[in-house]
Amino acid sequence: MTILPIIEAPDPRLRVVSEPVAAVDDALRALMDDMLATMYDAPGIGLAAIQVGVAKRVLVIDLQRRGEPVEDGGSVEDGGPVEVREPRYFVNPEIVWESDEDGVYNEGCLSVPELYGDVMRPQRIRAKWLDYNGKACEEELDGLMATCLQHEMDHLEGILFFDHLSKLKRDMIVKKLTKAKRGKIAA
Ligand code: NI
Repeated sequence: MTILPIIEAPDPRLRVVSEPVAAVDDALRALMDDMLATMYDAPGIGLAAIQVGVAKRVLVIDLQRRGEPVEDGGSVEDGGPVEVREPRYFVNPEIVWESDEDGVYNEGCLSVPELYGDVMRPQRIRAKWLDYNGKACEEELDGLMATCLQHEMDHLEGILFFDHLSKLKRDMIVKKLTKAKRGKIAA
């Protein structure tokens, strides 16, 4: 598995609309493996293929919930909470239903480092997609998983989380990104 470089805004490639995947084959699975390794390394909870420069409708998500500490003979084992890894792969995802109720989550993005904003999105969605083995899946998702899938699906349309913010907040983020970019080139 290879850790791939993550493209950062305002790189114009992040504005590209990704193409549907024709077949879930070994080459695509290798890409998904690399994407997952890249996401864990960053670290992040979701990554779209376009963030590593591949304009295909592919996402990986792992919320990496912190599990409960392990009970051992009545005492809690030290070492703190255990990380639970549950990687999920979404090929050609589509939202088929969304709830009327919205939820707000303070979102960040691996392509927009260190900047965050409160984004309002439907709280629950029903989505369908192909999994790692090309199997058709359909599921109702809520909470952080619903938010994360919608955020990653935006990437497939060339949309970034700050596009959902007020003009004032959006301008502030774009200004910071442009400055950071200039800084990098100068350094
Ligand atoms: Ni993102």
